[in-house]
This record gives sequence, C-alpha cells and structure tokens, in this order.
Amino acid sequence: MLHRQLRPFQPGFLWGSASAAYQIEGAWNEDGKGPSVWDVFTKIEGKTYQGSNGDVAMDHYHRYQEDVALMAEMGLKAYRFSVSWPRIYPAGHGEVNEAGLQFYDNLINELVSHGIEPVLTLYHWDVPQALMDEYGAWESRRIIEDFDRYCVTLFKRYGDRVKYWVSLNEQNYNTHHGFITAMHPPGVKDRKRFYQANHHAFLANAKVIDSFRTHVPDGKIGPSFAYSPAYPASSSPEDTLAFENAEEFTNYWWLDVYCRGEYPQIPLKYLEEQRLAPIMEEGDLELLRKGIPDFVGVNYYQTITYTHNPLDGVAEGRMNTTGKKGTNESTGIPGLYKTTANLHLETSNWDWAIDPIGLRIGLRRITSRYGLPVFITENGLGEFDKLEADDRIHDDYRIAYLKSHLQQCLQAINDGVELIGYCSWSFTDVLSWLNGYQKRYGFVYVDRDETNERTLRRIKKDSFTWYQEVIRTNGGNLFP
Ligand code: BG6
Repeated sequence: MLHRQLRPFQPGFLWGSASAAYQIEGAWNEDGKGPSVWDVFTKIEGKTYQGSNGDVAMDHYHRYQEDVALMAEMGLKAYRFSVSWPRIYPAGHGEVNEAGLQFYDNLINELVSHGIEPVLTLYHWDVPQALMDEYGAWESRRIIEDFDRYCVTLFKRYGDRVKYWVSLNEQNYNTHHGFITAMHPPGVKDRKRFYQANHHAFLANAKVIDSFRTHVPDGKIGPSFAYSPAYPASSSPEDTLAFENAEEFTNYWWLDVYCRGEYPQIPLKYLEEQRLAPIMEEGDLELLRKGIPDFVGVNYYQTITYTHNPLDGVAEGRMNTTGKKGTNESTGIPGLYKTTANLHLETSNWDWAIDPIGLRIGLRRITSRYGLPVFITENGLGEFDKLEADDRIHDDYRIAYLKSHLQQCLQAINDGVELIGYCSWSFTDVLSWLNGYQKRYGFVYVDRDETNERTLRRIKKDSFTWYQEVIRTNGGNLFP
C-alpha cells in the first residue's frame, strides 16, 4: 500500500521508552524486598552470560531521580516501567511492604511532576520466589488470586496518577523459555506444563483486567505480547502451511485468548490429540471473556521465517546469547514448522532479523484480526556500544534501526492502525536477561559490565539527541 501523502502522528502521541524492574533497579534485597525467581535463577552456574545478574543492575533504585531528570531533558512523553512483585509482597501474598509501595510512589510522582505519563507494567517476569517454593508459581491456579491481590493493591495505590497499565509482559516469550528451552525459571522442558502454566497466566490476566474496570474505570490496560510476525520461507504450499502453523501456535494462541477470550481452534484440536491441551475448569472460558483489553501491547524486535519441518525434523536449537553473529541455530516443532534465515534481511550481532516493514505488517495483522488499538511497548536494537575516548557513544546503527521502524509506524497509522504510542526499548542500558550487560539497548549508556560495576555513570548516546528531536517535532524529522 503506497500512500501519496502521509498524515502525521496525532497530537498527544505517546513518545516513550521502557524498562523493567529486574533489569535496572538493583537493590535486590533492600527495604524489605523478597527474592524473585530471577534473584535465585541467575545464581545457578551457567544460566546467564558470564554469570551476570541484577543484584545491582543499573542501580536505578537509588538513582531514579537522575534517570527521570534525563527523561525530562529528552522531552519523553511516556515512560514504561515495571513493578517488582516481591518488593510489594515479599512472600507473594500476606503482608504488604510499605517501603516497596513508597518507592514506586516516589517514581510515579517524579514522572508526573515532569509531565511524563507513567505506563506501569504489573508483571515483567519477577514472580516472588516464595510462590515458586510454595506452589510452583504459574503452575498452580492459586496464583490467580495472589496475582489479583497484588494488582488490586497497585490499582488502589496508583490508579489516581497512572492511567496506562500493562498486565503481563511477554507471557509467550517468558513461558517458552521457562518450560520449553529451560533458559528462564523454572528451567524445565515440558510441553504439557507449558500449556497448563499458560492457561493459568491467561486466567490471571483476565481476572486483573476485570478487577481493573472497578478500580481504575478511567484507565486503559492491555498485555504486552512478544510479537514476531511469521513469514513463509518460500511460496511453496509446504512452507506456506508451516508459516500458517507458526502463526497459529506462536501468535494466535496468545493473541486470540487475550483479544477474543477463546483459544484458536486449529492448534487446540492438535494439542488435544497430542494430550498437551491445558486442563480447563468450569467458568474458565467466562473469565477469559471478561479479560478483553483496551489495547494490544506489542513488543516488536523481529519477524521470523518458517519452513516445512518433517515429523523427524528439527526441535529446539541453540540460541545466540553471546553476540557472535551466525551462532543461532534453527529451532522448531517436528511436524509443524522450523525457523530459517530470511535472505532478504540483515541481522544484528545476536542474529535477530532487522525488519521495519515487518512491524507494519504485524500492526496491520493485529488491526485486521482484532480491531483493537495498539501500543508499541517495546522496540529497539541490542548491540555492542563503544564508549569513545571523548566520552561519546556514536550509535548511528541504533538511530537507523529506530528511525526505520518509526517510519513504518507512521505508514501503519496511515494504513488504518490505531497506534496509541511507541516505547523504545530501552531508556538507559539494562541487564539483558541471558545476554549480560554487553547487549545494550538504551539512549543512555551506563558505565558497567558483567563483572565490574565501575562508576554506573550515565552518558547520553547520540541516539538520545536524535530521539529528543523526534519528540520535539512529533515525528516531523523522520522523513527527509
Ligand atoms: C523482551 C523483554 O523480550 O525483549 C525485555 O520484554 C528484553 O525484558 C527485551 O530485555 C530484549 O531482549 P534481550 O533478550 O535482548 O534482552
């Protein structure tokens, strides 16, 4: 679809940036916080790049005022952050930790006083370890009540100032690694448990959205989905079928439940035959239907290309977590699909395909299938950055990535997508869960590495000034 003229970004478009508690806060055991599963998992040898963990991370817990001052200097309109559940309920339920609530009160007030819209993520993977020990966290239906209690606590406390909320962050990606590749907690490989834990997460998501309607009636809420739109490797019917399989199993399985309150028929039938389908109880489907969100949060990094995979074909392959380009292996489900390189696309050093048009395609697919507004809650480029002798970081590759993706956002808006806002990933550099501190995403460089916390000094990258201008011109500088 080629437009002769492009309508600009609407006034009030939320130009934002994002982060997550575990990846920036540090202060892992301060002021009454309980351990999360990540505090424990990262200490198991061999689980993360060079044993990196978030004990100190970017020390945002102690430097949030400095970080918000930088956001204000940039002119940021929205900032997406997550609340650490074990900071609020150290044991997952029971006694609430006032010091934890106070920290986010302070952060929210700081944002609001600078005219920055807070976008609060309720859950970005750091479930309290206590709940893992007590009942296996997402593997038990008990988590539905506990998650709801925690969320309602936040709705009541912050609902007057926070109007944009993200329920679950990347349930799909997190559970895939938790139960298929064993690279996230609880670190198991079991497809049956994967689908059951997901079912509980869907129910918990629906329940808190339902509660949200009572407590924050003038707010908006939606889950953030790790969306990698699928492509067929070729126009052969076999590859096209593999692509259809991938869309059904890797995208619609989640998006249909979120946006329609029901499981898609084709994968459900297949999983029932394989005895992998989740066990559902009476009332579950009614609850799922109460969870239709106000928007779909999209975390977009790449498209994935699929090809035919025979019954004795490829299963899980190794993932590039080192930044050594070309070390990612094909991965798939025998009899359904397997991934393959897309020869039309460049990749990052972590082998993620760089595909701005893929973002437009994804946004359109969501609009056509669900008719809901979209909020891009993450998009960015993880790369090695070099601190030059003059104390500068010339990240022109990141500017090129963000610019090309924002250009496609505007194309998508002109195609008819209702786009609320765009949060880049990330504001400062963050700990990249499995890839350590060397895979950097921020506009603001943080002086540290995997083994040495160094000064934790903040240094503005070239992309900082560039995005500042994007915001100032409401996207006017994106096109020549
Ligand atoms: C998403 C997560 O998966 O992508 C973020 O929501 C994460 O927390 C980001 O950091 C980039 O992924 P990675 O693995 O490169 O850190």
